[in-house]
Amino acid sequence: MEYQILKIQIADCIATVTISRPAALNALNTNFFKELNHFLDDLEPREDVKVLVITGEGKSFVAGADIAEMAPMNSDEGYAFSTFGQRTFDRLEQLPMPVIAAVNGYALGGGCELAMACDFRIASKLAKFGQPEMNLGMIPGYAATQRLSRLTGLGNALYLILTAETITADDALRMGLVQKVTEPELLMEEVMKLALKMAGNGSQAVPVAKRVIREGISMNFGEASELEAVEFGKQFDRTATKEGMKAFLEKRKPVW
Ligand code: CAA
Repeated sequence: MEYQILKIQIADCIATVTISRPAALNALNTNFFKELNHFLDDLEPREDVKVLVITGEGKSFVAGADIAEMAPMNSDEGYAFSTFGQRTFDRLEQLPMPVIAAVNGYALGGGCELAMACDFRIASKLAKFGQPEMNLGMIPGYAATQRLSRLTGLGNALYLILTAETITADDALRMGLVQKVTEPELLMEEVMKLALKMAGNGSQAVPVAKRVIREGISMNFGEASELEAVEFGKQFDRTATKEGMKAFLEKRKPVW
């Protein structure tokens, strides 16, 4: 497939997807979701890619779902538009490798929802977050009603969705929506540093930790702790885990 919207770069075990539709501030349309699904088809079986980074071109990360595409829709089409987006973001969330949103600018509506489907969010000081759908007389459709409260708590989710307020990166950091805020020119450098850290030492345990955390959150505490214990136990059959502990005891760096 020849991509029109996504720019893809793979280097040093890190895949970077740049959403590039700057004339519409990278608004998400059906073609974007088709391209992202195609990219995920290619990415899912790959073992050489250890981290995925998603960012936007220009002054926007993503300014929302494409309002021009949505405007003429009827209720069936609106439902299909929502579920297609939701299913795609679920696939992103369920990738085995960590996914970082490098939020360079506006992350509004569907853009904030895309960022929330990533494992964590590193934001430029210039980034702006919000769920402005109320200004359009609608509710969010790519799972902000669910992910926002899980990430920031019920009060913050209700506040952001009901007021449609746009907040700064620092406010998003205070709410727990964002994990780190950087100077704009340092955003990608900071993100790559984190990506390389996760792709490096002990990286075989990273997908396991991600799965246990993500699956555990929808289980009760006892079931989730059992899942952790099962996965913890399995590691003792792995040479990488043995080597990690052996190296510590022998006061040397592990050879992975
Ligand atoms: N959909 C389609 N086009 C969009 C867009 C969107 N979400 N956001 C911006 N654009 C387009 C504008 O229409 C404009 O196009 P033209 O040059 O052809 O007129 C271009 O991008 C530049 O936008 P602005 O001139 O508005 O740029 P600005 O710097 O003055 O304002 C902004 C930036 C505050 C982000 C403003 O563009 C804005 O408010 N955008 C809409 C944000 C929004 O409401 N997002 C939620 C969408 S609904 C949704 O996402 C539902 C869901 O959950 C599934």
